[in-house]
Amino acid sequence: MALVTLKEILANTRKEQYAVGAFNFSCPEDAEGIVMAGVEKKAPVILQVSMNALKYNGLKALVGYIKGMAESVEIPVCLHLDHATDYDLIRECVREGFTSVMVDASKKPYEENIADSRAIVEYAHSYGVSVEAELGMLGGREENVVVADASAAMTNPEDVPRFVQETGIDALAVAIGTAHGFYKADPKLDFIRLEKILQLTDCPLVLHGGTGVPEEDFRRCVQMGMSKINYGTAIKSVFVGAVAAVTPDEIQKVPGKQDPRNLLKPAKIAVAKHVGEKIDIYGSTGKAW
Ligand code: G3H
Ligand code: ZN
Repeated sequence: MALVTLKEILANTRKEQYAVGAFNFSCPEDAEGIVMAGVEKKAPVILQVSMNALKYNGLKALVGYIKGMAESVEIPVCLHLDHATDYDLIRECVREGFTSVMVDASKKPYEENIADSRAIVEYAHSYGVSVEAELGMLGGREENVVVADASAAMTNPEDVPRFVQETGIDALAVAIGTAHGFYKADPKLDFIRLEKILQLTDCPLVLHGGTGVPEEDFRRCVQMGMSKINYGTAIKSVFVGAVAAVTPDEIQKVPGKQDPRNLLKPAKIAVAKHVGEKIDIYGSTGKAW
């Protein structure tokens, strides 16, 4: 089916207590692995790409292959630009066929974050494209977003209602104790803060920094009302782990070894298996319409 927006894909999450997985991809193979998992689980999926990965693929090529993948399957797929700080690039993605974008002005003061996010919402909504923005700041590294642990800041629940109302966003990323990248120790999620935020807004909420979050914490977030779960670093490592190292000598000796597709297919399948497991945990198995 045609790509759907973030607003559409998250519409029933809160009342039906499931979250849609937003999986970061780097290239066509891992994107296809993610879609394979969605098809296998009859689950909606969000394919999200960082500004770096977007440049690696090329904007038009990426939109072309993702649209093609989405139209070849019968599950809802949303194409989302993740953590974007370059507003010209966001507008280009909106014009070129993305169905959702994240404006990340979370490092800016509250008023500027509101103004920047609102400007992107006005532009994106005029094209029917959804917008996610962020309040608070996660520590760690996610492609082009780097925040030292000391600068990380949890979302202040009191800041949420005005932010949501004045920006008109479709989803809000909150900082409740997760971080980007691998954890050194298990994260401590602030469920009391999450509860307060949920009481103060109907806006679908987004959990960033999914890699390494224990399963019971995911389940608790979903049951409380989390709508979108971002999951990236583990997919890269599953992909790389599945692509076996091979010497030039082996390439010549073993039939088929020179074919990149033989190298990439196991990686794609490994991603599909891993993502399928997360979809089960997020409760979106069988939720495709
Ligand atoms: O925006 C992307 C995510 O927050 C992914 O975080 O790489 O720690 O799983 P992660
Ligand atoms: Zn993130």
